[in-house]
Amino acid sequence: MTTSTTPAIDSARAEAFQGRLGSLLNDSFLALLISVGHRTGLFDRMCELPPSSSETIARAAGLHERYVREWLAAMVTGRIVDYDGARRTYQLPAEHARLLTRAAKGDNLAVITQIVGELGKVEDDIVHCFRAGGGVPYERYHRFHELQAELTAPVFDATLIDAVLPMTGMLDALRAGISVLDVGCGLGRSTLLMARAFPASRFCGLDLCADPVLRARRAAAEAGLTNVSFERGDAAELAAPARFELVTAFDVIHDQARPAEGLAGIRAALRPGGTFLCVDIAASSNLADNLDHPLAPMLYASSTLHCTAVSLAQGGAGLGSMWGQELALKMLAEAGFRDVAVQKLDGDVFNNYYIAR
Ligand SMILES: C[S@@+](CC[C@H](N)C(=O)[O-])C[C@H]1O[C@@H](n2cnc3c(N)ncnc32)[C@H](O)[C@@H]1O
Repeated sequence: MTTSTTPAIDSARAEAFQGRLGSLLNDSFLALLISVGHRTGLFDRMCELPPSSSETIARAAGLHERYVREWLAAMVTGRIVDYDGARRTYQLPAEHARLLTRAAKGDNLAVITQIVGELGKVEDDIVHCFRAGGGVPYERYHRFHELQAELTAPVFDATLIDAVLPMTGMLDALRAGISVLDVGCGLGRSTLLMARAFPASRFCGLDLCADPVLRARRAAAEAGLTNVSFERGDAAELAAPARFELVTAFDVIHDQARPAEGLAGIRAALRPGGTFLCVDIAASSNLADNLDHPLAPMLYASSTLHCTAVSLAQGGAGLGSMWGQELALKMLAEAGFRDVAVQKLDGDVFNNYYIAR
């Protein structure tokens, strides 16, 4: 005989969850409109204006007032913009402008909200993959490389030369002249910055995708840099002979289809005594240890919608961006790196900096 029992409902918990879902729905829509505010320059214009009408704000931004007024209503009720109901004027408070405008550079969190809409575009593909397996190729993410560069360029500008590269202990060698490989260079911001800062060294940016490589080559030509080149290729196909004293990989290893082969290839491409600077998501490999990670839901979600999917699209490992420190250290050791230090960078909550030799 079977008996069915209805689980007892903790009504306080149920009510709290209902409230949380309400906030989540409001915030999801606000994230999309914050992205629109960033792309249209509305936040940038508002931060230059005194409390203003929707007409004035629309004119300053060169936009249609009706859309701007509706957007402002969402911003006001979402407590992002202040509203004076008597005067019908809107103002972006300075405390919010410092996190939502281009002037904020690396602190501009509106840049990240663009990823919500970008990943939303592949939702149909992802639902199909949940049922049929496989993955979503890079070509389906139309603005991915551009958004990635917008996200990381201010961080590279502010930290790469003065704070990140010193972790490698290679500054004197870079000044004297060495060969450097930047794996998964995307649009090449990191490679170009290093090439400009160390004219006696030679830099090669490598990326799997054709379009960013072409754009990086154009940027190098425009900057008149002659000590840098960009090549299309797969890190997993790197091999001896060892040509480089330093290899860098910024936020790349977890996206790869064949990350173990990629790490072994990097090891093989390094000259004896060379250094590998591997920057990747700071998290644990164990889900239970990430419960208090402040960005875990966003990182696991973007991993589902992009990092895991692009790897699986190539028949790959689908490591995911939350592969974590324990697995990263294990895989670095298996690739032959015997001495690995894990460092953190002040102000960068996203990443671990693995210095591997
Ligand atoms: C998350 S993006 C990081 C781009 C850049 N390093 C940055 O920090 O802005 C990952 C990059 O790795 C590239 N990539 C993925 N798998 C690769 C592979 N097997 N070999 C070389 N590049 C790869 C992608 O095309 C993409 O440009």
